[in-house]
Amino acid sequence: RMPILEQCYNLMDFEAVAKRTMKKTAWAYYSSGADDEITLRENHSAFHKIWFRPRILEDVENIDTSTTMLGSKVSIPFYVTATALGKLGNPEGEVVLTRGAKKHNVVQMIPTLASCSFDEIVDAAEGDQVQWLQLYVNKNRDITKRIIQHAEKRGCKGLFITVDAPQLGRREKDMRSKFDDVGSNVQDTGGDNVDRSQGAARAISSFIDPALSWKDIPWFKSVTKMPIILKGVQRVEDVIRAINVGCQGVVLSNHGGRQLDFARSGIEVLAEVMPELRRLGLQDQIEIFIDGGVRRATDIIKALCLGAKGVGIGRPFLYAMSAYGLPGVDRAMQLLKDEMEMNMRLIGCSSVDQLGPEFVDTRGLSMH
Ligand code: FNR
Repeated sequence: RMPILEQCYNLMDFEAVAKRTMKKTAWAYYSSGADDEITLRENHSAFHKIWFRPRILEDVENIDTSTTMLGSKVSIPFYVTATALGKLGNPEGEVVLTRGAKKHNVVQMIPTLASCSFDEIVDAAEGDQVQWLQLYVNKNRDITKRIIQHAEKRGCKGLFITVDAPQLGRREKDMRSKFDDVGSNVQDTGGDNVDRSQGAARAISSFIDPALSWKDIPWFKSVTKMPIILKGVQRVEDVIRAINVGCQGVVLSNHGGRQLDFARSGIEVLAEVMPELRRLGLQDQIEIFIDGGVRRATDIIKALCLGAKGVGIGRPFLYAMSAYGLPGVDRAMQLLKDEMEMNMRLIGCSSVDQLGPEFVDTRGLSMH
């Protein structure tokens, strides 16, 4: 029997329910990673190599988890990252995530390959709710320009260009499951000529431009005033290059283990990048985000201690949405908020801006 929502006590519980209840093709698309899924597995386990150094007697009666990301005030430093094909898991699609994000005052990143149309997702937002756009760059730059300028006009506050997917990774679980319901918006964004034998992911991604390069960044800056953030950065040299070409942020990420297997986890890369940026005096020139494997508020806290501005969370909200709809997303976010408040209290830190490297022991990471 399916557990009732109140029996989900953490984000992993939603995954277990989703696995048992979702359509097999949808589960295969959401859960899969590339090749042997070593990176996928590492994403969460990397957090287990970092331990806390809590402070005591710090007056932690009142805890403030709010912060800013790209200039927007948020209640807690996580955002709903972009994940394609929301309707595979829930017939209403990404707007369910929009409503959950609204209720908790967190940011939603809208995927290029959403099942709902971009406008449906923006229309589902209310008031000053903050949304960002995740961009897959089309070989046809006129289409890409139209998407970017439309997003800016509709109030998006950040342009996240995915840079780790010049070709979609081989997610074999997904490829094995026959896939037929791509959804109409995906056709609009250029995903025609689909080869369904290659699974959901590859079926929708043939329009992505593998020739995208650093030379294109000035063009993006010329067509929009939105901050530009590169999503999928893996090394400090590229963070520095991103600063030099005028990007406002990077997401240290391996695309949820779905692209290059044996790409390192975002948290591991962060632990390497931040000391180097500090050494060069560049730490305030760019906002660093990470994603991949974030399942507990302690994961969020560890990332913040190591210098991240915020973290993206993908699959857990997909699973919550698939298993329980909006109440599931609501509960998943509330669980994270409760965990965040409790764990900040337990490490002796009452506000997010006080989190720093002195709160963590990173000797278990393989940096040295
Ligand atoms: C993704 N991700 C992703 N990223 C992106 O830039 N464009 C996209 O269309 C998608 N689509 C997508 C679909 C699904 C089903 C998943 C699980 C992921 C990657 C996503 O933004 C993020 O990097 C990871 O999901 C983070 O890892 P976790 O939180 O899922 O472990």
